[in-house]
Order: sequence, then C-alpha cells, then structure tokens
Amino acid sequence: MVATAMVAVARLGGNAAFITRVGDDQTGTQILDEFRTEGVDVSHAVTTPGLTSHRTIVLVDGRTGARAFLAGRGTANDVMPEDLDMEWVAEAPFLHLSDAGPAAVAAAKVVKAAGGHACLDGTHYHQTVDALLPHLEYLVVSRFFGSEYLAHLDGRELGAAAREYAGTLVARDQAVHPNPAAMGDSHAPVLTGGALLDAARRLRERGPNVVVVTEGEAGCWCASPDGDFHIPAYVAPQVVDTTGAGDVFHGAFLQARAMGRTLHSSLELASAAAALKCRALGGRTGSPDLETTIAFMSTASRHR
Ligand SMILES: Nc1ncnc2c1ncn2[C@@H]1O[C@H](COP(=O)(O)OP(=O)(O)OP(=O)(O)O)[C@@H](O)[C@H]1O
Ligand SMILES: [Mg+2]
Repeated sequence: MVATAMVAVARLGGNAAFITRVGDDQTGTQILDEFRTEGVDVSHAVTTPGLTSHRTIVLVDGRTGARAFLAGRGTANDVMPEDLDMEWVAEAPFLHLSDAGPAAVAAAKVVKAAGGHACLDGTHYHQTVDALLPHLEYLVVSRFFGSEYLAHLDGRELGAAAREYAGTLVARDQAVHPNPAAMGDSHAPVLTGGALLDAARRLRERGPNVVVVTEGEAGCWCASPDGDFHIPAYVAPQVVDTTGAGDVFHGAFLQARAMGRTLHSSLELASAAAALKCRALGGRTGSPDLETTIAFMSTASRHR
C-alpha cells in the first residue's frame, strides 16, 4: 500500500522514498529497480542476502472487477527499528505507514518529535494499531477499518478479515488473502454513509488530528479540527481495475498536503487521482501526473 502511494507521490511530482526489506533474489532486484524507474528513492531500503522477497499477485475478474490476492510472503521479514537511519527519517515532513509494528511506531515518534506528520493507511482495525494512534497526524482508513472499530467499541468480536489482518502482522505464514469485501461477517457488518463519519469521529478521540474513512465510489468521510465533511468520489473515465485506488488516494493526499493545499482541497485532489487510477489494469499503471489530475478535476462529474 505504501509502495504504490510513494509511486503516486513521484508521478505527481513529489519527492518520495521507500523503506523496505528485500532479499537479494530476482524479485528483490525487480522491486528496487521499479522504484528507481519511478523516481522513488530506495537508498535506505535494506537488502538481506539469502532471503526471498515478498511478492503479491492480484487476480482481477474482467467482468465484475472482483479481486483475489495471492501473496508469496518470502523470508525477508519486516523492517526493524534498528534498520532505520533515524536522523534521515526525522527529516521527512511526512511519513506514510501501513502497519503498526515496532519500526512504524518508532519512526512515527521520531517524525512527530521533529515537527513532521505521520499517516497510517489501515485496511482492517485490530488492537495492534492502538500503540500507533497517538503519534499520527492523519489516519486514513477503509470502510472495513471504520466498521470494525465501531464493532470493537460495541464489544463485538471482530470479523474474520480483521483477525486475519492481525495474524499477518504477527505470523507471516498466510498463503492466500481472499477478497476482504467477501469476508465481512455478522460480527462487524460493513457500515456505510454517516455511520462511517461517526467511526471517523470516534477514531479521532484516540489521537490522530484528522481521520478519513474511504468508501470507494461513495467517496470519503473526514473528521477534522476544521469540522466534519463528506467528499464525493469523481466519476472515473472508465473503471477497469480499482486495485490500489486507496493507495493512490493516500499518496496524492500527502503530496497535496506537502504542496500546501488545504485539507479539503487535498482530499479533492486525492479523490481525483484515485478515480483516474481506476482507468487502467494494474495497481500503478493509471496513477496520474499532476497536470492530468488538475485537468480532470475541472471537467469530471461526481458521484452523489
Ligand atoms: N470505482 C471508483 N470510482 C471513482 N473513485 C473511486 C473508485 N474506487 C475508489 N475510488 C476513490 O478512491 C478512494 C479510496 O477507495 P477505497 O475506499 O475503495 O479504498 P480501499 O478500500 O483502500 O481500496 P484499495 O485497497 O483497492 O486501494 C475513494 O474514497 C474514492 O475517492
Ligand atoms: Mg487500501
């Protein structure tokens, strides 16, 4: 998720770097080369000889757009706090995270102390993220995360997807990730509309200054110090593949903030970039440049 977000930042003209661990296998070389081609700095990525790199293959049904994820987890494990060059991390005005492991929490603390802003992309809520929440400026999460958080507050058991998500954080032995949308169960029904804004408000009580819950074509819901609001999604030129729409949304949001846009205007730009992303097959192929995004915003219609 962060990888695609950083490519989105670079395509929009921003400076992005990505920290990861890869092995010295062909997949690892391919991963780093692809970032270099996109202009994403991987000088602080860690290559560990003898390990195999993580790879995910996404199957997209051409008729329905339904997706399945085949994850080959590899043996190159998470980045650990001791892998990080904290002086370099502290220079980042924005830090984007997709997990709440020890390295993520350590980096978020350092960035916040240096006056920067940390952001978490969350797919599913699980208590494993609680330690990170107080150190975040931005929490930008999916409708599943928002729904599961409210279920958690109600004392209900989290759904299978949230349990699996927590499992992948501790034991990286999952071979197949089914479509999370198909995994919602009765414990945490997937909420819509104003209920997601309510989730954003409740999550804000946990520390992040701004909380956004995204709802696909139904747009996103934002709780902030400047008030709470909804941003409708843009109507995509054509919807070929929505994989990575959320990831591009995050990258474009952070780049818009880095360019000095207001919160509201940054979410508008993020929504437009995410809609444009859907026009092509692949997580990153459709991720737009700034000129294309701004031109699209002046002509595109909106979902209601
Ligand atoms: N079909 C679509 N058409 C237009 N905009 C879309 C579409 N799907 C997503 N978006 C935009 O992208 C944002 C994020 O999408 P979504 O809520 O699906 O993220 P996600 O659940 O993290 O998905 P993914 O994991 O595939 O990135 C939405 O708020 C919306 O602005
Ligand atoms: Mg996402």
